Amino acid sequence: MCGIIGLTKKTGDSVKDVLKGLAMLEYRGYDSVGIAVITDNRRLVVRKGAGDLANVRKRLGLDELRGRTAIGHTRWATHGPPTDSNAHPHTDCRDEIALVHNGVIRNYASLRDYLEKEHRLLSETDTELIAHIIEDGLRHGKSLLESMVEALKKLEGSYALAILYKNEPKRIYFAKMKSPLILGMFDGGSAIASDIPALLDITRKFIMLNDGEFGYIEPDEVSIYRFGSEGSFYKIDAEALKNRIKLIEWSPELASKGGYPHFMIKEIYEQPQALSDTYNGLAEDPSLKKVAEVFTSSKRIIVVGAGTSYHAGLIFTYFMSKLTKKMAIPLISSEFKVLESAINDGDIVLAISQSGETFDTLEAVRTFKRKGAKIITLTNVVGSALDRESDMTLYIRAGPEIGVAATKTYTSQVLALELLVIEVGRGLGLLSKENYKRLSEILSRADSYIQESIEISDPLAKYIAKLMNNYKGSLYVLGRGLGHYIAKEAALKIKEISYLHAEAYPAGESKHGPIALVEKDFPVFIIATNDSPEIVGNAIEMAAREANVWILKPSDTELDIPDNERIRTIDLNSINKNDVLEPFIFIPFFQLLSYYISVAKGYNPDKPRNLAKTVTVE
Ligand code: F6R
Repeated sequence: MCGIIGLTKKTGDSVKDVLKGLAMLEYRGYDSVGIAVITDNRRLVVRKGAGDLANVRKRLGLDELRGRTAIGHTRWATHGPPTDSNAHPHTDCRDEIALVHNGVIRNYASLRDYLEKEHRLLSETDTELIAHIIEDGLRHGKSLLESMVEALKKLEGSYALAILYKNEPKRIYFAKMKSPLILGMFDGGSAIASDIPALLDITRKFIMLNDGEFGYIEPDEVSIYRFGSEGSFYKIDAEALKNRIKLIEWSPELASKGGYPHFMIKEIYEQPQALSDTYNGLAEDPSLKKVAEVFTSSKRIIVVGAGTSYHAGLIFTYFMSKLTKKMAIPLISSEFKVLESAINDGDIVLAISQSGETFDTLEAVRTFKRKGAKIITLTNVVGSALDRESDMTLYIRAGPEIGVAATKTYTSQVLALELLVIEVGRGLGLLSKENYKRLSEILSRADSYIQESIEISDPLAKYIAKLMNNYKGSLYVLGRGLGHYIAKEAALKIKEISYLHAEAYPAGESKHGPIALVEKDFPVFIIATNDSPEIVGNAIEMAAREANVWILKPSDTELDIPDNERIRTIDLNSINKNDVLEPFIFIPFFQLLSYYISVAKGYNPDKPRNLAKTVTVE
């Protein structure tokens, strides 16, 4: 995530508007803040530091700065912990360029390798590298625009950029690829920001930028370019730009949620972006390979997590067994005592936690560490307690999650874990080069699969939520194998957000007890993953007890489902039998179902009763 903003005006000061906008953008990240401004005597001044806006503003006197052209950034750390030096803006060696960035540069490691030899790098970020690549272009006599174009050609991953150049004091350069960026126009100036709320106090006139667009704004000019053939680029003509101007009439409340009524639905819809950032962040991250090496040579892996993070861990254990033939033992964090006596110094513990602060997971980690285990953490929060206490950390880079229910962080965790599994499979020689490449390529498209699933699931979930509006009883979510693990997360979402009792268990267990509860119209959702065609039998036995059964399946999975008015089938996207994609296509339906039931019943899905986002007590 991260929030970026920039303003350039004919007269007056832009700093106060940048600061106001940053306050609106803080929901996108709040671990460090910075601004860069070109003062009226043409100095490029940068002030930045770790901490949230209120803190950094006071500490560094940001309100004292003045200038007509300014950019700002509020950060959610992805490369490097939240420190003063990692805060944005970043500069080149000659302090001529100041640059803010939202996104993740995938080829960070190789870029850093070559830049390190000739440049003075002051941070651990991927962002700073972009400033130095542009600097290379300027040193070769290119214009800033040309240098930026050269830099963009070298970048892989996602970015929204805003750039100040000391020698062009009226301009803010920008570029967008897979991270949000909009332009705003107003009398006497132009602006740029990650999203609309940041600029609503200034303008209602916007242009939404598309991926691959770049250019610059001046107080009375907006220039947008696109790449043409063979690396050339061309300017979009003024008439076409006029047609793209949109008038936005949002209330400030709606605006802070990006136009969505709740953070939960916004975050469900942010999953494609979160998955793209997770993939880009990890695909070439040397840490992924290092962690995989540790797993490759490990005897035993214990996977600890709570709630949704535990459910992501279950999926990891499934694919470890299937693709690497390695046994990973899942353990709910608060139950760590169950294995405590058996842990020793040959063990590897994988701790999964969105926040990195969950008390139970920290306790488990601290206990196992004392017993000699090596700790590897997967988290969304750089610099969190778990991050600090672990031997190695991987980050999911899903951006801050405000809704109490984990949604985008769950699917990002699953993607990160699957990437880790295939890396281990490759290390062990169990995945051939071709197979590894194929799986990696499939996972690189998890974002578009989840996008499609959200689109398919939304109207269906809305419809079924309506049918269940007056229902107060229990329901089952059943699956086998991978489907059971997905069902556990599905049931948790329904429980915590809709306040309905939802139980997930392996479908084969029905006859051993739970089916006793089933009576007329009892809702049963069945997650028919590719590994379990026999689940149709379970659907039939439920229907025979007059349950209302919904079978969810990938559209290309052929199941022998009998004609039965009590069994309905929901076809999700087709996945060509690639089971690594199944968590991404099944879970949005249940996230949306729990959301729509909650809204229909008048609950607040962002703040479910009795729950807190981060559980830091025993
Ligand atoms: C469910 C949910 C919780 C968390 C759990 C662990 O929607 O959010 O079950 O998953 O409290 O939190 P983290 O991942 O921060 O350790």
